[in-house]
Amino acid sequence: MLIKLFFSLIIIIFIFYVFLECDFDYLKHPNPFSIWIYIISLLLIIISSFLEEIFKNQLSKKKLKKFQSYEKKIKTINHGFDGILELDNKIPKWWQQLFSITIVISIIYFCSFFFTNFANPQFEYKRAYKNQLKKIKEFEKKQPQASIETVKFDKKFINDGKKLFNENCATCHNIDGGGNIGPNLTDDYWINHKEKTLIKNVFYIIWNGSKNNKVMRAFGASGEIKGNDIQKLSSYIYFINKNNNKPKNTKFPEGDKIILE
Ligand code: HEC
Repeated sequence: MLIKLFFSLIIIIFIFYVFLECDFDYLKHPNPFSIWIYIISLLLIIISSFLEEIFKNQLSKKKLKKFQSYEKKIKTINHGFDGILELDNKIPKWWQQLFSITIVISIIYFCSFFFTNFANPQFEYKRAYKNQLKKIKEFEKKQPQASIETVKFDKKFINDGKKLFNENCATCHNIDGGGNIGPNLTDDYWINHKEKTLIKNVFYIIWNGSKNNKVMRAFGASGEIKGNDIQKLSSYIYFINKNNNKPKNTKFPEGDKIILE
């Protein structure tokens, strides 16, 4: 009975997976409709198994007699020439049932493969992509972003900051920060000095851009770069600015000489 229950449940879940939800994710967050279907089918299976058990008990005495007479006339296949004795027993019932289940599953699988989106790689890719985007959004919502009030220098941000700098800023400020279209970021001359500390000042400019020269755009305010990434960029610029190994070919100084801590 337990085996039957187990297989029936597997088939129900399989059918649900193929035709209704197409996603194993729903096992974690099932909707009320599928929970009710599970409960009702489970009850039906249990009731039918009990009924079967009762009928079986009534039949069992008759069956026992049958079996005893069956035992007497065991069939064998006559090999004759090699003398090997081979019994001609019937295949066990559970084996036959298992076989029929595989046929049923293969038909379901065949139909669902050719007529639904089941196991369609492009569909699966799109679904996985959507789920991934959703998860990223949720993660970002929970993740508090750094702001001009909370920004601080941290060594662990330098490597990530360097990557972000190479991707977003190196075209104008040069790969070593020595300046190109934009000013040298490794010297003590600043065109923009709105904040009292270096890290805050850099954060301020990346967030708001420059009022004098729109070429330096507002990466933070426009939503192009998030607060935490601006904190990493600011940490990297702080690092190359305070570092004693200055780049060799830098742009001429621009702005006022102020040493920001
Ligand atoms: C399209 C070119 C361009 C890009 C890309 C760019 N900048 Fe700038 N940046 C400039 C220019 C031009 C200025 C000078 C603005 C001014 O004159 O006020 C500037 C100024 C700055 C300043 C202030 C320097 C000072 O002396 O006041 C900082 C800090 C800075 N940029 C950081 C960055 C960072 C970090 C990035 C990448 C996220 C970046 N910039 C991307 C062109 C660019």
